[in-house]
Amino acid sequence: MADILTVTGGSPLVGDLEVRGAKNLVSKAMVAALLAEGPCVLRNVPEISDVKVVSGLLELHGVKIDSTDNDGELLLDPTNVEQAHVADIDAHAGSSRVPVLLCGPLLHRLGEAFIPDLGGCRIGERPINYHLDVLRQFGADVQKRPEGLRLTAPHGLHGAKVRLPFPSVGATEQVLLTAVRAQGVTELSNAAVEPEIIDLICVLQKMGAIISVETDRVIKIEGVDRLGGYEHTAIPDRIEAGSWACAALATRGDVYVRGAQQQPMMPFLNVFRKVGGAFTIDDEGIRFWHPGGQLRSLVLETDVHPGFMTDWQQPLVVALTQTSGLSIVHERVYENRLGFTEALGEMGAVIQLYRECLGGSPCRFGRANFRHSAVVSGPTPLRGAEITVPDLRGGFSYLIAALAAEGTSKVHGIDLIYRGYERFSDKLDALGATYDVG
Ligand code: EPU
Repeated sequence: MADILTVTGGSPLVGDLEVRGAKNLVSKAMVAALLAEGPCVLRNVPEISDVKVVSGLLELHGVKIDSTDNDGELLLDPTNVEQAHVADIDAHAGSSRVPVLLCGPLLHRLGEAFIPDLGGCRIGERPINYHLDVLRQFGADVQKRPEGLRLTAPHGLHGAKVRLPFPSVGATEQVLLTAVRAQGVTELSNAAVEPEIIDLICVLQKMGAIISVETDRVIKIEGVDRLGGYEHTAIPDRIEAGSWACAALATRGDVYVRGAQQQPMMPFLNVFRKVGGAFTIDDEGIRFWHPGGQLRSLVLETDVHPGFMTDWQQPLVVALTQTSGLSIVHERVYENRLGFTEALGEMGAVIQLYRECLGGSPCRFGRANFRHSAVVSGPTPLRGAEITVPDLRGGFSYLIAALAAEGTSKVHGIDLIYRGYERFSDKLDALGATYDVG
């Protein structure tokens, strides 16, 4: 498929679509299979390129992966785990950050792990210092080599008392995937408790792990000697569900998102309601629509769960350009996740970026020189433009902007969107969008 979409906007998106398993759980559940002594079955797996990347990575390490006849079901057999070459990992990983999560499982299985330099969306520096600090606390030895990092555990991996400087999703997963087979007890404080992490804990518990999630972001893990396979159905992708909800709002549309669930989306639903969007929830999904009239501006601060997640911020900003008055957006998770707004400016949006913490709550970026707050003035009509997708969620926002804008937009680099949005062009068809590929 060509990497360009030519979108004719200005019409409401109306119709039904379905979201399947969460990208940010599925990739980690696949990595967890490395720890198993038997086959694993993962269900509700979406057809996104990130799943292909992780499959390729695991296959390089000897995991056998097959799709079954059931749509969205993956069989992972880790019986013959083996070491892979760094260059091959690098070639496969592309922009993914998942390789760093292989460290703990590979140290347990093979006694050593190699990882290349990591990518991921360019939404900030995205270092891996928390991951490496955590692994060292478990007893890993980390050596920097020109081709990447080599990790060994000369005295085995031992449970530890770990406190994260920030409730990082990846570092929490690193601790879980390492502690479950480490000797002794691990106490993790300042842990991330995103629904995708709780679902990963469910996977690990099915495999035989002993993990308790306590109050105040504390997670305790008692290491066990062996872990078996699992059968698990991934929780639905709340980021994708929220993204389509924002598309409905920005285009004055009406979209039913089958698979969307209330509980993991509560922070989103509150904001959606405050801004003037309407929704109803049933057992199968959530219907999101623009109820007519004027949308209301608001103050939005992103945060780790149970706050408003950073991944919803970019799609929502497009809808905020259609609200009446000044909205404030304070991005508190990534230092550079507002750069995408520049192209929205070319489409007619009025968005000013600030280095200060606007919105009322100070954050880590307040004294640094990062433009991590935005003031969005609305409502401003959007007009078609030629734009290039900067990152996964920013890319989806551009798509929303193109669909909401009068006239034609050429959106370049849409391949990036396939990393996290399953069959999105089929979904655009189902919602009556007008576009051409190329
Ligand atoms: N951080 C560090 N050092 C580290 C790790 C993180 O400074 O070693 C910082 C990051 O730079 C960032 C903050 O901590 O400022 C939070 O990062 P976190 O570790 O929580 O993010 P992640 O695990 O790399 C996952 C998702 C992201 C999502 C974030 C936050 C996956 C594959 N990625 O990233 O998803 O934004 O958690 O919820 O699970 C996306 O889906 O588009 C996406 C970027």
